[in-house]
Amino acid sequence: MDDRDIQTRVDIELLVNKFYQQAKYDDQIGHFFTEVIPLDWDHHIPLICDFWETVLLNRIAYQGNPMIKHLELHKKSPLLEKHFDRWLTLWEKAVSAQFVGPKATEAINRAQQIGALMKFKVSQL
Ligand code: HEM
Repeated sequence: MDDRDIQTRVDIELLVNKFYQQAKYDDQIGHFFTEVIPLDWDHHIPLICDFWETVLLNRIAYQGNPMIKHLELHKKSPLLEKHFDRWLTLWEKAVSAQFVGPKATEAINRAQQIGALMKFKVSQL
């Protein structure tokens, strides 16, 4: 584990890239990114970095609606509890592998909250 916290856009890029290096090859959730929605990574990675920069560094860079995107995704291929659990496990690993401190903790906590809300919303469909 590193001994620094998440402080800059470059830190967010390190984190997001680390996460997707695992997530896109993951046997439980990888297919969402490669088959259900074959992502253009040159577009998706900066978008996700914008999202986390907005959440963690208070710079308004992301203006999308992740809830709607995941509801649409769920209609194509159901997002189940095990998928959310796996996503969060990989996210926590990516955070803790490189960062420690209040922002690192916030990155994990916010992902848990947003993931719980997404899980609830898809369960209502
Ligand atoms: C089961 C867990 C999850 C899976 C399999 C998943 C998968 C995906 C996929 C395939 C996309 C691309 C959708 C598209 O372009 O149509 C996407 C977009 C996105 N995801 Fe997730 N996701 C999960 C959970 C989360 C969580 C917990 C967060 C936030 C903490 C998150 C944040 C985002 C954001 C910000 C986008 C971009 C939405 C946009 O285009 O504006 N995802 N996700």
